[in-house]
Amino acid sequence: MKKLCLLGLAIGLASHSVWADTKSASIENKDAFVSNLMKQMTLDEKIGQLRLISIGPEMPRELIRKEIAAGNIGGTFNSITRPENRPMQDAAMRSRLKIPMFFAYDVIHGHRTIFPIPLALASSWDMDAIGRSGRIAAKEAAADSLDITFAPMVDISRDPRWGRTSEGFGEDTYLVSRIAKVMVKAYQGDTPSAADSIMASVKHFALYGAVEGGRDYNTVDMSPVKMYQDYLPPYRAAIDAGAGGVMVALNSINGIPATANMWLMQDLLRKEWGFKGLAVSDHGAIFELIKHGVARDGREAAKLAIKAGIDMSMNDTLYGKELPGLLKSGEIQQSDIDNAVREVLGAKYDMGLFKDPYLRIGKAEDDPADTYADSRLHRAEARDIARRSMVLLKNQNETLPLKKTAKIVLVGPLAKAPIDMMGSWAAAGKPDQSVTLLDGMTRALGDQAKLTYVRGANITSDKKVLDYLNFLNFDAPEVVNDPRSAQVMIDEAVKAAQQADVIVAAVGESRGMSHESSSRTDLNIPANQRDLIKALKATGKPLVLVLMNGRPLTILDEKEQADAILETWFSGTEGGNAIADVLFGDYNPSGKLPITIPRSVGQIPTYYNHLSIGRPFTPGKPGNYTSQYFDDTTGPLYPFGYGLSYTSFSLSDMALSSTTLNKTGKIDASVTVKNTGKRDGETVVQLYIQDVVGSMIRPLKELKNFQKVMLKAGEQKVIHFTIEEDDLKFYNAQLKYAAEPGKFNVQIGLDSEDVTQQSFELL
Ligand code: BGC
Repeated sequence: MKKLCLLGLAIGLASHSVWADTKSASIENKDAFVSNLMKQMTLDEKIGQLRLISIGPEMPRELIRKEIAAGNIGGTFNSITRPENRPMQDAAMRSRLKIPMFFAYDVIHGHRTIFPIPLALASSWDMDAIGRSGRIAAKEAAADSLDITFAPMVDISRDPRWGRTSEGFGEDTYLVSRIAKVMVKAYQGDTPSAADSIMASVKHFALYGAVEGGRDYNTVDMSPVKMYQDYLPPYRAAIDAGAGGVMVALNSINGIPATANMWLMQDLLRKEWGFKGLAVSDHGAIFELIKHGVARDGREAAKLAIKAGIDMSMNDTLYGKELPGLLKSGEIQQSDIDNAVREVLGAKYDMGLFKDPYLRIGKAEDDPADTYADSRLHRAEARDIARRSMVLLKNQNETLPLKKTAKIVLVGPLAKAPIDMMGSWAAAGKPDQSVTLLDGMTRALGDQAKLTYVRGANITSDKKVLDYLNFLNFDAPEVVNDPRSAQVMIDEAVKAAQQADVIVAAVGESRGMSHESSSRTDLNIPANQRDLIKALKATGKPLVLVLMNGRPLTILDEKEQADAILETWFSGTEGGNAIADVLFGDYNPSGKLPITIPRSVGQIPTYYNHLSIGRPFTPGKPGNYTSQYFDDTTGPLYPFGYGLSYTSFSLSDMALSSTTLNKTGKIDASVTVKNTGKRDGETVVQLYIQDVVGSMIRPLKELKNFQKVMLKAGEQKVIHFTIEEDDLKFYNAQLKYAAEPGKFNVQIGLDSEDVTQQSFELL
């Protein structure tokens, strides 16, 4: 699933070397160093630095090296090994000014070891686990000569029709902002110049998750208050945490494409937020300004982008072609180009590349003998993190955990789908290194295994969908159907199920169904898999559904049909082992939904923190003229923050230390959480606040804090949260960020709906 693109035309070539002079110019002082280097650069060399190209297997390496040596390329992405990148850096060292290249990649949820998809990571609500995944990804990527990742992706997503929901951390501003910060720190370590760090570039700036109708690349139209309040904070959190880069979104915002949006890129990002790093366009986005209809041709597109402050152009050749002419005609100024070049060189400086262009490439003799060696993976960590990110949605009659002595039939196309375990954007992950559910269960059972596997269904029998899924991958078809008829496969599964004590069915989406451009109008499990589930249910045997999917699915019927449901998302290299750990109770599930699961597509957008309305639906009093869909139950299928455990927890004795809060004061909100069941386990205690009356309508509640707590069976703990004025601030109609005096409700719960409440007054 990579994007490939042809190399553009060469620009110019200058010859004599001044690297030595540049080197001596105070390399310890970034600004002086960069300014001095820029003084020595020709216009062509400057423009060359703004060019970021994708390296595909079919590309002419010789020509690329020539271009680099001519100073015509600033960095690459998708070349991901030391032997691949070393000759390119060698070429850069032959260029007149020896400006190092950087090597980028989409390291989104792991590099070689693939961790659960971001939506799954968010389901752990475990900042330590999420941070570990990012740190390992950075180490593995750096060890493979990569300098920068296009991550974290922190687009708030409240419309699961959008395929990229899988790539983000869910619907909630607070949770995503916390994760944004953790991920940036994890990638960059103490400094992005360390040999085992990579620079983070937060994306997609901005509001990409709000594309209309959940259709990828579509328009975004949003009020400023909603932007500031709900959608922008995660990007800001990543930048405040020190993200060195920003990737600019493909969408438009209120009629202006992000890539040409002066307000977004200049007023907000640079001036208001003080961002000093590298802004990269998304793939081909400058050219797309023509298609958006804001540029009449490539020349105007390049002009709009450079003026807006797009420093580097990803995989289009417009800067190279157009900037010299635009400068000559006075349509752009030298400072427009210089500002961009300064950021590119600054980022390379921050990556430590001027001090050592081979910092992450190392010496050839130290290259791993086998880049793909299993010993380079972090399997134990991947397994631990994966099992933390699964959400138990239903567990009737303690169907789970399964007894290892039981006769189990494992059914479903996703039980044996190594590529799907990894999810989309699986970086350098290798499908043959990922553990399927069948592998995981087989290993967990060892000698006692009474496990049978039957496929039962294909991912989809819809030819159009199948063609689409296979079009996405350039290397090989991703989804290969069993040629037998759907009925034959179902009959086989039913027969096997009748012999078993319990059925485990791995169903859901293939990874390509939750990917870039993979928007869906229908969020059901594909029809043929649903037929299988129905037939399995009819056997009367206990039915466990193991869901694999990259977004919330509408599982209304399945909720009724299944005895237990485990949401595993796409759980990565060690997914099969991790799921087996949960199914057999070797790990007690502790994940909570970072996104609402709707009952139907018709309810979308579904999110817990919507604004108060004048005619709210009142449960138990359906009546007319209240806000509802009359043809279905109101409310989500599973709310934000929801997730079960094999033990049970209770909350009691919620207390606030005061009923009033001064502007400079603090309130302690406490609650006793008790493990009332028979197993040790973890849960997430969630704190929500509602601003009851404001100068603007405020949400019904907003997540403001949480703690993941481990409790032994029978153990209890008092959990404390501190509430300060800062937690109560919001953007008002004038976009002023301030708290307003008045009543606030504090709600504490183990999900966003089932809460206990106390109130206080802000004086
Ligand atoms: C995606 C980006 C990604 C880039 C490079 C684009 O199509 O939108 O998220 O970083 O490709 O692979």
